[in-house]
Amino acid sequence: MELLVAVSSILIIIVTVLLLNLLFKRTSSSTAKNNANAPPSPPGLPVIGNLLQLGRHPHRSLCSLSHRYGPLMLLHLGKVPVLVVSSADAARGVLKTYDLAFASRPRSKLFKKLLYDGRDVALAPYGEYWRQMKRSTVSNKMIRSFRNVREKEVKLMTEKIEKAASSSSPLNVSEIFTTLTNDVICRVALGRKYGGDVNFEELMRRFTKMLGKFCVSDHVPWLGWIDRICGLDDELEKIGNEFDEFLEGVVKDHLDGEGNTADFVDVLLEIQREKKLGFEIDMVGIKAIILDVFVGGTDTSSTLLEWAMTELMRHPESMNRLKEEVRCCTVGRHKQNVSEDGIHEMKYLKAVIKESLRLHPPLPLLAARESIRHAKFQGYDIPLGTQVMINAWAVGRETATWGVDAEVFRPERHLDSDVDFRGQDFKLVPFGAGRRICPGIAFAIAIDELALANAVHRFDWKTAKGTNEDRTGEVSESTGIPVHRLSPLIAFAHPT
Ligand code: HEM
Repeated sequence: MELLVAVSSILIIIVTVLLLNLLFKRTSSSTAKNNANAPPSPPGLPVIGNLLQLGRHPHRSLCSLSHRYGPLMLLHLGKVPVLVVSSADAARGVLKTYDLAFASRPRSKLFKKLLYDGRDVALAPYGEYWRQMKRSTVSNKMIRSFRNVREKEVKLMTEKIEKAASSSSPLNVSEIFTTLTNDVICRVALGRKYGGDVNFEELMRRFTKMLGKFCVSDHVPWLGWIDRICGLDDELEKIGNEFDEFLEGVVKDHLDGEGNTADFVDVLLEIQREKKLGFEIDMVGIKAIILDVFVGGTDTSSTLLEWAMTELMRHPESMNRLKEEVRCCTVGRHKQNVSEDGIHEMKYLKAVIKESLRLHPPLPLLAARESIRHAKFQGYDIPLGTQVMINAWAVGRETATWGVDAEVFRPERHLDSDVDFRGQDFKLVPFGAGRRICPGIAFAIAIDELALANAVHRFDWKTAKGTNEDRTGEVSESTGIPVHRLSPLIAFAHPT
C-alpha cells in the first residue's frame, strides 16, 4: 500500500519528465538495449520503470508477468535492474550453479538505519565479515536447541486457549501464535519475555511496519526528497533510535549479569570477550545480530503457523487426518501436551507444514540478492550489481512441478515425496538455499510443529462466521513483509 501511495505521488511529479523523455525518445528499456543479451523485460515507464507493475502483492503480479515473459525476466525498479526468477529450474541456477555470483545483498536506506548498515548477517554484503558472523553466531547450535523453552511456552499457549474455550469466547488465533513466537524468541535471544510490555509490543509493531515501507530514494535517488516530505525519513530515524536504545538496554542488562540462564546475547558477549572470531565483534555487530534473530525469527514463524491453521480449518478432512495422527502417536496421553519426542513420527504433521510453506511462503520473494560479478546465466548476460528476486510463491505453484492441482492445499502430495525445503531441492524454496540460506530453519520448524500438534490435539476448532474468507472464498493476504492474513484468524476452540 505504501508503495502505491509513494509511486502515485512520484507519478504526478514525473509527468513533466515523462514528456521530456518521450521528446528525446529515451525510454526505460535503454538499459536493456545496452545489453542486447538481457532476459525479456516487460515494457516500463520512464524514470520509474516497472515499479507500478508490482501492485499491492508483488509476488502475485510478478507471477502473472512471468507467464508472459518467462521464468527469467529483467525488470527496472526505477534505476535498479532486477532479475526476477519464477521457476524451480531458474531458482536452481541462481541458488546453486551461480550461488557465489549472486551471494550479496543490496543496500537500502531502510536497512541502513534499522539494521545497522549490513553489520548483521542477513544484510551483510558477501565477504569475510558475513562468513565469520554466520558461521560463528547465528548458526550456533544454541539457536537450534532450547527445547525446554519451546515446550514451556507451548504449554502456556494451550492453557490460554483452554481458558478462552471454557468461557466460549472467540479467540484471536493469529495473535496467540504471534505471542508464542515472540515469547520463545525473546527468551532464547534476549533472556526474558517482553510480551505484555505495551511499549515493547508497540515498538515491534512499528518496526516491522517500517521494514515493509517503500523508499523512493533507493530506486530514484534524485526524487529522494519525497521520502523527506512524506515523513518517512523522520519516522525511520525515530524508530531506528528507539530500537537501538532498547537493544543497548538488553546488552547492558547482560553485562551487568542480570538473568541466570545463558541465552543468545550471552553467547555473543562470550564470543566478543574471548575474541573467537578472526576479528573483533563490536557492540554494533552484537546489536545487529540480535536484531536478525528477532526480526528474522518471530513474524515469519507465526505467519507460517497462522497459514497452516487457516488451511486446516478450511480443509476439515486434513484437520481430521492430522488429529488422528497426533492421537495415535500419543496414546494414553490425550489430556497431556505433545512433547518434541512424539513429533518425529508425525509424517502428516510434517506434510501439513510443507504444504503450508509451498502455498504461503512467509517471505514470498525471499530476501533480495545482488550479483557480485558478471554472470552468463541461461544464455543471458547478467551484469554485476543486478538485484535478484526469487519468487518462492510462484515456484511453489508451478504446474510443471506440482501438477494441475498446484493451487490446492493437499498435504498428501508430500507423503511419498522426497522434496524438501532445506535447500537441496529447488521446487520448494521458502528458506532460500545456497550460501545465504536461512540459518533458522530447524528452530522455526521445531516451534511450529510443536505448536500446531498441540493446538489440534487438545482442541476442536470452529471458525467464527464471517472472519475467515472474503467474498471470493479466498483468504486475503496482507501487504508488507512477511505476508500474513489480511485479517486475523478468529475461531472458537473446544477442548477434545
Ligand atoms: C518460518 C520461519 C522463517 C522463514 C520462512 C525464513 C525465511 C528466510 C529466507 C527466505 C531467508 C533468505 C534466504 C536466501 O537469501 O537464500 C532467510 C535468511 C535468514 N534468516 Fe530466516 N526464516 C525463518 C526463520 C528464521 C529464524 C527462526 C531465524 C533465527 C533464529 C532466522 C534468521 C535468518 C538469518 C540471520 C538470515 C540471513 C542469512 C544470510 O543472509 O546469510 N530465520 N530466512
